[in-house]
Amino acid sequence: MQKVLILDFGGQYNQLIARRVRECNVYCEVRPFTMTLAEIREYDPIGIIFTGGPNSVYLADAPQVDPGVFELGVPVLGICYGCQLMAHHLGGQVTAAQEDTAREYGKTETFYDTNCKLFRGLPAQGISWMSHGDYMARVPQGFSLVGHTEACPNVAIADEERGFYGVQFHPEVNHTQHGADMLRNFMNLVCGAVGDWTMEGFCKKTVAWLSDTIGPKGRVLLALSGGVDSSVLAALLAEAVGSRLTCVFVDHGCMRKNEGDEVEAAFAKWNIHFVRVNAQERFLGKLKGVTDPQEKRRIIGAEFGYVFLDEALKFGITKEDFFAQGTIYPDVIESGKGDAAVIKSHHNKLLPREVIEQFKAVLEPLDHLFKDEIRQLGKELGLPDYLVHRQPFPGPGLAVRILGEVTAEKVKILQDADYIFREELEKSPCVKDCSQYFAVLTNARSVGVMGDGRTYDNTLALRSVTTSDFMTADWTRIPYDVLDRVSVRIVNEVPHINRIVYDITSKPPATIEWE
Ligand code: XMP
Repeated sequence: MQKVLILDFGGQYNQLIARRVRECNVYCEVRPFTMTLAEIREYDPIGIIFTGGPNSVYLADAPQVDPGVFELGVPVLGICYGCQLMAHHLGGQVTAAQEDTAREYGKTETFYDTNCKLFRGLPAQGISWMSHGDYMARVPQGFSLVGHTEACPNVAIADEERGFYGVQFHPEVNHTQHGADMLRNFMNLVCGAVGDWTMEGFCKKTVAWLSDTIGPKGRVLLALSGGVDSSVLAALLAEAVGSRLTCVFVDHGCMRKNEGDEVEAAFAKWNIHFVRVNAQERFLGKLKGVTDPQEKRRIIGAEFGYVFLDEALKFGITKEDFFAQGTIYPDVIESGKGDAAVIKSHHNKLLPREVIEQFKAVLEPLDHLFKDEIRQLGKELGLPDYLVHRQPFPGPGLAVRILGEVTAEKVKILQDADYIFREELEKSPCVKDCSQYFAVLTNARSVGVMGDGRTYDNTLALRSVTTSDFMTADWTRIPYDVLDRVSVRIVNEVPHINRIVYDITSKPPATIEWE
């Protein structure tokens, strides 16, 4: 299988580059810029993309690459910082841009040379998304100028003979018109990608790998939440090892209203060994008095591991057995790997070592897939639509939607309010635009008036986002009349909520969940 390597220099859009590459049916991985030349050789990419990043290449502590990377005979596309890095290494000169000359931010009218492979078949003019304060004062020898703006003569450079391309703008973001096509051109016309990354291929390979790794006798315990990721993994494992799979559903008591029963009912229909563990008291006991979001996540992640292990021990597991979980790429990235900042630790990256050590290995075969790829895989495996299209639900559940301390009473309030929000939204045609929607108990109280009396009660926030990859998201424009129905119903039907607000922030700068 052909692979593209994305070297991460800390830019904020790096995961989008990976998304765009995968959309061209080309496999890629985002790796830290510290990857050595030997590791790059071993990875054996058909093309390398240097991402953007916040640094200036001419400063002493700027992230670098081994210049040997330019001798591998592998095409390179440098984006923003990556472009400057390439210029810097190949004999060009990068300096700080003067105010109002070549420093550019935001949407910029850009002109392209459509004879260049990167821009072939695309319009010669369009908006691109710029975000650079540095400027290539001298372009390296062998490169020609293939793109410019009014302020800057060299926003795109190319040495077509060696397959080196650099752009100062960000082709990966939607604001750049035809940006995805430019990346596609780089892959297809420059790197010779044939588009051999398909879900059908991944599915076959993974089932074979799982059955090989687990062996003829090994058993697998899968942490099943009923969400799309772990359900897809259940289907893969069932194909690989059949009855040697046990799915353990740990109900931590912070699920949505009726969800525990629904998950149990859904999996009762599958021909698999399914176990439900009801552990609300255990989890709430551990969360008593805890208000810090990362601390909550850590506690739930660890407790999840201990509950799971207790259940596993009942099965008499041995060191020949495996623990599987449906970790996906964003869980890995947002929990902080490589050069990206830790946004929030996803629960499946928080398992205690002593739990892991009880198993032969932890299997996470989906940990390089994005959410929409998981859904494609689910379809490939013949999973029912309602499972494939379920909205994501965070591992720690409502605990990260109850700001401040989590108590059984607050869980009940939030479950009831969230249920009404979802019920009303699902009656409206606008639900097709809502990729994920839920309510949040904000830990803020405010004064209200109900009947003739004063109230001093909880503020509930409603959140709905529109996104396909959940890495970036916009807030959904839900019609006012739907919001109104939700608001009236919740304050009337759910005690202790007297005010409702709607969250109108996109991601970034906010995240989807509040904690
Ligand atoms: P954020 O809040 O980081 O969430 O914008 C991105 C997506 O990830 C989900 N999420 C999680 N999923 N375990 C998960 O499996 C977690 O700990 C977790 N935290 C957030 C979130 O619901 C959204 O879809």
